Amino acid sequence: MQSKGLPQNIILKEIQSRLKKDLTFKSGKIISSMCTSPHPLAKKVYTQFLEKNLGDPGLFPATVEMERETIRMLGSLLSNPKASGHIVTGGTEANILALWTAKKAAEKEHGEVIVPISAHFSLDKAADFLGLNLVKVKLNSQFQADIEAVKESVNSRTIALVGVAGTTSLGVVDPIRELSEIAVEKNLYLHVDAAFGGFVLPFLRELGFNVPDFDFTLPGVCSITVDPHKMGLAPIPAGGILFRDNDLRKLIARRVSYMAGGETEQATLVGTRSGASVIAVWALLRHLGMDGYKKIVKRCMDLTWKLAMEIPKIKGFSLVTKPTLNIIGLKSDSFSIRQVAYELRLRGWAVSLFPKHIRIVVMPHIRERHIEMFLEDLREISDKLGG
Ligand SMILES: Cc1ncc(COP(=O)(O)O)c(C=O)c1O
Repeated sequence: MQSKGLPQNIILKEIQSRLKKDLTFKSGKIISSMCTSPHPLAKKVYTQFLEKNLGDPGLFPATVEMERETIRMLGSLLSNPKASGHIVTGGTEANILALWTAKKAAEKEHGEVIVPISAHFSLDKAADFLGLNLVKVKLNSQFQADIEAVKESVNSRTIALVGVAGTTSLGVVDPIRELSEIAVEKNLYLHVDAAFGGFVLPFLRELGFNVPDFDFTLPGVCSITVDPHKMGLAPIPAGGILFRDNDLRKLIARRVSYMAGGETEQATLVGTRSGASVIAVWALLRHLGMDGYKKIVKRCMDLTWKLAMEIPKIKGFSLVTKPTLNIIGLKSDSFSIRQVAYELRLRGWAVSLFPKHIRIVVMPHIRERHIEMFLEDLREISDKLGG
């Protein structure tokens, strides 16, 4: 570190100039991230309350109350206003907390957790931390967890099942009802990773789409990950973990006696924890309401459908599967998908490359003109690679 500090204006100028290299959501070229530019209200609220620390709740009882209300609102969205939980750093922390709770509930070391091969890699991290064994089962022809394979994998070491409501690679929803039936019958913990889908599916249902049950309406579901910093339009970090009831959450809660605000308990991985994140999510849920989110989700889905209709018209390209959410898998039987991703990157597009497809996520920052630009570039790539 230099001994003499620099004036603020010099620093701010340098930051502006350094960050020019970063991509922006405003450009519309980030067409694959599950995050987006936060809603303006959330930005405003977040920056106003940076000092709020939920790691020392006795100092910030009003913020604690707002977290409870936020969890209640998210619980209602997922059919259980009595849900207990926290706004955490993201889907990764939420999934770790869920498997930690499952391990505590089972009171077993080295238990097995059955997940579809499509599950997010945060579950691998969780299993590693917790000394659990992930048993990965194949997918059916619809890219969902294969229920027969799940049934065959259950044994005396199994402690939990995980289903995904909105897979990372394709946005597919696993057969959560069937997973719930197995969980109830075999007395297993069921966690639903709806990190992405949790802020889309309830609104799609309200919009009249045929949405399968995936939430606390199903009796076997013990916990759900639902991330406000994805389709919830909240600033990073804002993940969500919801437990069916407070007894489950208590399984991972630790008492802490030395806090400035008095004795407390923590049931999150991190100690010092952003109250600003919570207040921003609270503000968004209250400001946008069901109608606001419905409108956002509808616009994203309309653009997703436009892409889904247009892509197969371009020579050499097709969809992996019909979109369930605002996520599309773009594949090609004619060109190397790696080469296509490279060509898209040359044209400034930030896309995610999976082994056999490119993922496109139509987030709220994507406008119709961006979709048109993207299709135009894809046509050009088809001409170029098609010779
Ligand atoms: C289904 C799913 N779960 C969990 C996560 C992890 O979320 P985060 O990156 O917020 O930790 C992701 C991220 O893409 C995801 O798609």
